[in-house]
Amino acid sequence: MTEPARRATVSLARDFTVGPVPPRLFGSFVEHMGRSVYTGIYEPGHPSADEHGLRGDVLDLVRDLGPAVVRYPGGNFVSGYDWEDGVGPVGDRPRRLDRAWRSVETNEFGLSEFVRWAGLVGTEPMMAVNLGTRGVQEACDLLEYANHPSGTRLSDLRRAHGDADPYGIRLWCLGNEMDGPWQVGHKTAHEYGRLAAETARAMRLVDPGVELVACGSSARSMPTFGEWERVVLEECYDQVDHVSAHAYYEEHEGPHGLADFLACAADLDAFVEQVVATADAVRARGRHAKRLTVSFDEWNVWYMSRHLGSDVAQGRSEWRVAPRVIEDEYSVTDAVVVGTLLHALLRHADRVAIGCQAQLVNVIGLLRSEPGGPAWKQTTALPFERVRRHALGDVLLARPGGDRHTSDAYGDVPVVDAAATWETEGGTLSLFLANRDATAPTAVTVDLHGFPSLRPLDAVALDAPDGDRHASNTLERPGRVALRPLDGVVCDAPERGTASAEVVLPPLSWAHVRLVRR
Ligand code: AHR
Repeated sequence: MTEPARRATVSLARDFTVGPVPPRLFGSFVEHMGRSVYTGIYEPGHPSADEHGLRGDVLDLVRDLGPAVVRYPGGNFVSGYDWEDGVGPVGDRPRRLDRAWRSVETNEFGLSEFVRWAGLVGTEPMMAVNLGTRGVQEACDLLEYANHPSGTRLSDLRRAHGDADPYGIRLWCLGNEMDGPWQVGHKTAHEYGRLAAETARAMRLVDPGVELVACGSSARSMPTFGEWERVVLEECYDQVDHVSAHAYYEEHEGPHGLADFLACAADLDAFVEQVVATADAVRARGRHAKRLTVSFDEWNVWYMSRHLGSDVAQGRSEWRVAPRVIEDEYSVTDAVVVGTLLHALLRHADRVAIGCQAQLVNVIGLLRSEPGGPAWKQTTALPFERVRRHALGDVLLARPGGDRHTSDAYGDVPVVDAAATWETEGGTLSLFLANRDATAPTAVTVDLHGFPSLRPLDAVALDAPDGDRHASNTLERPGRVALRPLDGVVCDAPERGTASAEVVLPPLSWAHVRLVRR
């Protein structure tokens, strides 16, 4: 390889940690939207489906990804959803209009199917209650149905439906994106804050073990951002455990599009920091003892501008079951950006407790599946899976230095975006690195302060095959973009002075490098 054109440093110290990797940081989201459920995770009659209609091929891929938590059933869908429609004998369940996504909801798949699926995956279910068209009573009814052991109308109904054991769902979202005018039952901050507080109080009376998420802003760009969080949390601070944040990014057309897109993790960093600052201000003002954490329960790359003219956006479409909605096909560039967003979550491991990459299958999905056909991993699944498996132990403070990447929208950011974890027992350091330079390789020097002597264990990279940064994994070529071994990692352990590791990152790439105790 020719001499790298760019240089970057990352400085790490064994004792300078952000905190332990939160167990729920790398989760996902299944919404009744498009083909996320129907022909996504559920498709009776598919050759791989089990007797309950759960697709085995998708299940296997989801197990590979290993999302720690999966949010369900929405999303915008939940704000008009009657949970009772999705329980009991399937033949008795009503077909309904889903106003959020202009679809027909058959209700073949509901709570019990989701809990069964989550058990097979080995993931924690995270339920959302409808605070759009419904309120305190219906949220408590759902919780009683789900979590109360027996001896009441709703818990006995669950038992009569075939689920003798309570589901024991711990994590609950108090509605979804209630600040958004698009939301069915959209509310002002005061209206929502009061409703969230009262719903939370009542839910805790049903089951004191629940953990509750209040809706924060649906985007940092919302005009109400900040004020929404303040007002909502003034109302419900003591009743909730987490406040949500949602963020979607895309590469826009134009001369700054790519450079901005590659820098967007800086926006996610700022988003978390501002939500945390607002929550802490409410905490101080209200003299509250506990500290809230952020549930970043929707984030991803989403080409919203490409879908603006779509049938769904314009409200022209027929009412259909499981239409194809926002089935973005992700490129190498998107995967590199997803890598940087995963890094940003890790960098805030002290205050982000939950993360859900939205969504899991087909709808802006980590995975794709075809009705009656195969399922495969999108490019974005590659960094997700790797980080999910290997971000272990403590997150280290990663101090970047060296060359910068200039963006119009987010200012100057390091040319190499980094996060790192250290797992003491195995003595393994995981370096997660992204080269934002689209044309030049970047040589990275990682300074290692206070670690035992380390040696390279393995390294993989994701970059453009044949120089095509738009390359994606498709039905025809599901394995076109893959992680490949990255050679040339060296580790220097001098008798005196600072140890360091060196790696050269290809242009526009994401990489995972492991160093292990000698
Ligand atoms: O994930 C798709 C949609 O994005 C969700 O339904 C909504 O919460 C968000 O606006």
